[in-house]
Amino acid sequence: MNAIVQHSYGSPDQLKFEEIDPPVVEDDEVLVRVHAASIHPDVWHVVRGLPYILRFTGAGILKPKNPIPGTDVAGRVEAVGENVTKFMPGDDVFGETIRGQQWTNGGAYAEYVSAPAEALAPKPADLTFEAAAAVPTSGLIALQGVHYQGQVQSGQTVLINGAGGGVGTFAVQIAKAYGADVTGVDRAEKLNMIQSLGADHVLDYTREDYTQGNERYDLIVDIPGNRSFSACRRALTPEGKYVLIGHDHYDAMGRRVFGSIPRFIKLMLLSIKESQLPETDFATPPKRDSMAILSNFLKSGDITPNIDKTYPLSEVPEAIRDLESQRVRGKIVVNVMG
Ligand SMILES: NC(=O)c1ccc[n+]([C@@H]2O[C@H](COP(=O)([O-])OP(=O)(O)OC[C@H]3O[C@@H](n4cnc5c(N)ncnc54)[C@H](OP(=O)(O)O)[C@@H]3O)[C@@H](O)[C@H]2O)c1
Repeated sequence: MNAIVQHSYGSPDQLKFEEIDPPVVEDDEVLVRVHAASIHPDVWHVVRGLPYILRFTGAGILKPKNPIPGTDVAGRVEAVGENVTKFMPGDDVFGETIRGQQWTNGGAYAEYVSAPAEALAPKPADLTFEAAAAVPTSGLIALQGVHYQGQVQSGQTVLINGAGGGVGTFAVQIAKAYGADVTGVDRAEKLNMIQSLGADHVLDYTREDYTQGNERYDLIVDIPGNRSFSACRRALTPEGKYVLIGHDHYDAMGRRVFGSIPRFIKLMLLSIKESQLPETDFATPPKRDSMAILSNFLKSGDITPNIDKTYPLSEVPEAIRDLESQRVRGKIVVNVMG
């Protein structure tokens, strides 16, 4: 099969478009003929091997254990492992190709990938493969922030900082789907798009600092994390919650070794006495439950993926460079069949 192969850590230029053997299917896995895949920041983190700690948490110490990047797919089931009862050949599916944490290659940038059945869901019939591939990781992170950690309720006021990016575009729509009044914060040229996703109010971060305004929010989902928790809490109601997603560009910020981990540990410790921070819970909800929630929102039309650009499989290095440029509105998709 054709695939994008990563032989070492480094710039996206070292990725090669090669012909290799298709993957082996384990008992609890599904072999998917990939129609479309998508790109998110952890893809380029693993391509570059930054922050360095990811090399010791499963990605591979000297070079990636799995040489094919990509973790989000939509495609057609080709074969199923012995223990898989949920899917059969011919089913259209979408989801993640990895178990657990994100900092590892998942093999999605290839014509075939073997994915754990529990991380896949049936693709809604009305959704294209491209749109479905745009959803999994960004949608799961947004759902985690807004629903599981933020515990958003109907009628609450929610501020999404970084609303125009991969996670933010889903977070706005998920908060609206749960009945919240939503304010989206991003740069001016993304604000119309954020309103079109359903945001009730928008703020241009280059002109206004929401932590200095008079509005108070029941939930702040902070994607860029450009202000401290103590600054953000000024914009929270007394019972409000602050959820940090975190955004790492390791060069200028000098967080090449541990990334945002020290900041998350600090917030976890603070959450012991601070009710405005979500309680630490290391048990993430099962992916199949979260994928089912996202799937229902897609079917009802409550969320629609916002695709900025589509690239062919052979141009994945270009697509990753594009994402790194930080000028993307929503998601970048890879069309594997085209
Ligand atoms: N998306 C995923 O699936 C995924 C996967 C794994 C991890 N993550 C984590 O989540 C983070 C965000 O991912 P993403 O895909 O949403 O990134 P993204 O697409 O780059 O979105 C970040 C958004 O925040 C905006 N922004 C930057 N500085 C801001 C500021 N000071 N105030 C308000 N908005 C600001 C950016 O706009 P401009 O830069 O154009 O101004 C952009 O629209 C990643 O860095 C990563 O740590 C995401």
